[in-house]
This record gives sequence, C-alpha cells and structure tokens, in this order.
Amino acid sequence: MYGFIVLVLVFFLNQHHAATTGRNISEEDELITVVTVYRHGDRAPIKPIPTSKYCDPSYWPMGFGHLTKFGIERQYDLGKWLRKRYDFLLSPTYKASEIYVRSTDEDRVLMSAYSNLAGLYPPQGSQVWNDRIFWQPIPVHTIPRNIDDVIVEKRSCPKYDTLLKATIKSDYFSRINDKYADLYKTISNWTGIDVSDVEDIKLIRSTLYAIKSYNATYLPEWEKDMNWHLIDNLAGLAYFRYTSTPTMKRLKSGPFFHYLLNHLDLATSTNRASPAPKMLMISAHDTSLSGILNSMGVFDGYPPDFAATVIWELKKRRNGERYINLYFKSEKGLERLRIIGCEIDCDYGTFKDIMQNVAISIGSWAKECNRLSEKFV
Ligand SMILES: *[C@@H]1O[C@H](CO)[C@@H](O)[C@H](O)[C@H]1NC(C)=O
Ligand SMILES: *[C@@H]1O[C@H](CO)[C@@H](O)[C@H](O)[C@H]1NC(C)=O
Ligand SMILES: *[C@@H]1O[C@H](CO)[C@@H](O)[C@H](O)[C@H]1NC(C)=O
Repeated sequence: MYGFIVLVLVFFLNQHHAATTGRNISEEDELITVVTVYRHGDRAPIKPIPTSKYCDPSYWPMGFGHLTKFGIERQYDLGKWLRKRYDFLLSPTYKASEIYVRSTDEDRVLMSAYSNLAGLYPPQGSQVWNDRIFWQPIPVHTIPRNIDDVIVEKRSCPKYDTLLKATIKSDYFSRINDKYADLYKTISNWTGIDVSDVEDIKLIRSTLYAIKSYNATYLPEWEKDMNWHLIDNLAGLAYFRYTSTPTMKRLKSGPFFHYLLNHLDLATSTNRASPAPKMLMISAHDTSLSGILNSMGVFDGYPPDFAATVIWELKKRRNGERYINLYFKSEKGLERLRIIGCEIDCDYGTFKDIMQNVAISIGSWAKECNRLSEKFV
C-alpha cells in the first residue's frame, strides 16, 4: 500500500515537473547551472511623504531605505523556495564551491542576500554549531557601487547620462507629461512633492508600495482615490526609459550580461580544473531587474516587486546540446519568459548570439561611457 502511494506520488511529481519545465522531460537533461538575480526584500521608504504624519522617523525604527523584518522574511522565504526547487542541484550542506553570491554594496541588498541564504542553507548535520540558532554564515561578495563592474548602475557613465537626459526631453515623454499634467498637480498637492515627470511618479509609487508592505494603516487617506493601475503604468514608463535604446541597454545592463555569459561559458566548459559554481546569485535592485529584463526584450513594464527574481537555467541534453530557460518570479508567482527568437529550451549558442549586442566587457564599457564626442540620437 505504502509503495503504491509512493509510486503515485512519483508519477504525479514527474507529471508536474514535465508540465512546468515544458517539452522533453528534463530528468534526462542535466541542470548544469542556475543564475538568479533578485531585488532586495521589503524596505522602508527612501524618502517619506512630507504631508503624511508617518514621515516621522519614529514610525520606521529600521531607518529610511533599510530592510524591514518583512523584507527579511520575504528573502528568507525566497531562499527556502530556491532550496526546494534546486535541492537536487545543491548539496544539503553548504559547500563553498557550489554557490557564489554577489550583492551590490547597499545595506538592504546585503541584508537581503544574508536572509535569503539563511533559508537556502539552514545548517545540517556536522554544520550545526548551536542547537538554538538555525543559521550559519555564508559569504556574500560585494564591491563599492561607484566601482561595481557587474551592476554598474551607480558607476559614472557620462555617455549614458547624456542619452538619458535626451530621452527624458524627447517628444514622447513631453507628451506623456503634458497629458498627465493635471494628475501630477493633484499628486503634488497630496504629497507635497513636486511632480513633473514619470520619474517622480515612480518614486512616489515606490514609497506607497513600501508603506503598504509594511503597515497599510500608514497609507495616506488619498491613496484610496488614487488610480493604482495608471500609477503603475506611468512608473513602468520610467523603468522602461532607463534602457529605451540599444546603447542604453548596453551601458546599463551590458556588463552584467558579459558577466552572465562568462559564467555560463565556464559552466559549459569541459575544463574541470576550475568548475563554475552550480548557483550564481546576485542581490540587486528594481532597476537592475527592469534593465536586465528589458535588455532581453521581456520586460512587461510592471515595477518589479520586492524579492522579484530573474532565473536562468542552463541544461545539457544527453547528446551534449545545451539550452537555456528563463523564468521570472514575482508576487504573481513563477512565469516562464520567452525571448523573441529563442522561446523555449533556447539553444545556448542562439542565446549568446542574441545577447552579444548587449554584453560588453567593463573595459570597453568604460571607454564607451567616456566617448562624449559621438553624436547622440
Ligand atoms: C523533444 O525535443 C526534440 C528536439 O528539440 C523534438 O524534436 C521533440 O519533438 C521533443 N519531444 C517532445 C515529446 O516534445
Ligand atoms: C493642497 O490644496 C489645498 C486646497 O487648495 C491647499 O489648502 C493645500 O495647502 C494644498 N497642499 C499642498 C501640500 O500643496
Ligand atoms: C500598524 O500600525 C497600527 C497603528 O497605526 C498598529 O496598531 C498595528 O499594530 C500595526 N500593524 C502591524 C502589522 O505592525
């Protein structure tokens, strides 16, 4: 009887596996490596809303811009989710060679990585060092943001700044801002923040989202009269705008794709002298995610949730063929993303060809960033 139940369960799990991973039951195919890039967990507002009584720091004991306990929990849960999904890939005990974790040098982002790893690697067996603390230290690597060579968002790039300024002044965004001038006036009056562009809407939306995630009773009265759908869309345009041209995609997300392709190349290489980690984890920001997704042509314009995660899974068939599947995990659940020209079980060579226009080494990036004499669009 027991054996029968186990059989049925195994059958069910296999069916489920086949359904979520698509064609060709992938047990046959070896998962070589997984790359995850996620946004930090819930944080306090970075800049509070001046007209709200909850702008007083006493309501935010963790400090403005810092991870809240709900952010710790959300990342811990993401770590547990990763453990469940990749339990067959990662050893139950922490092994330094299996995972490499990198974070931007921002407190909430570093704390997110540590919280995530607490869920992914609860100490097991000989790694238990205290019966009452279900946590063990796992290293997280970082580099100051102004010299970060992977997530380059805070590294100086004059050419990018010029391109962004031109895009902000473009007819397209002037028309959007004209069209919503009355809404901007209303929101300026509500918030006491001068609103004149979708970027201001993005910041206010992100503050309201942070407040709502922490304690909905802190939301201002007028939030009930706000059209969230419209605010989401306008904020989404601000996210899109950061990477609205091929050059902007390369200058914002190119070094990340260079890093990603290097890792995937190393993972597919047959030179076993220095094997790539099975999991590469990058703790980052909403704009990192929107830039990365938009550079692959799969950003839907919705502002990335706290702990939203992009996942690349690189697999190998028995005949040696390698292919990639791409996923996005958010509050809506896990969805599969389809890159145009490489939808499902995307051949690794094709994926590389597609991303080659975006990927750029940090050396070439630095040169291009400072070449200001070029004519801009
Ligand atoms: C498995 O993959 C091969 C090659 O991609 C394809 O030709 C075949 O139809 C797939 N089988 C199923 C059951 O989807
Ligand atoms: C909003 O408008 C009302 C009515 O015109 C005014 O009394 C109030 O001072 C305004 N608030 C801000 C922050 O501008
Ligand atoms: C939210 O804030 C209210 C006070 O405005 C407080 O009574 C309540 O306990 C808080 N809820 C949580 C979950 O912290």
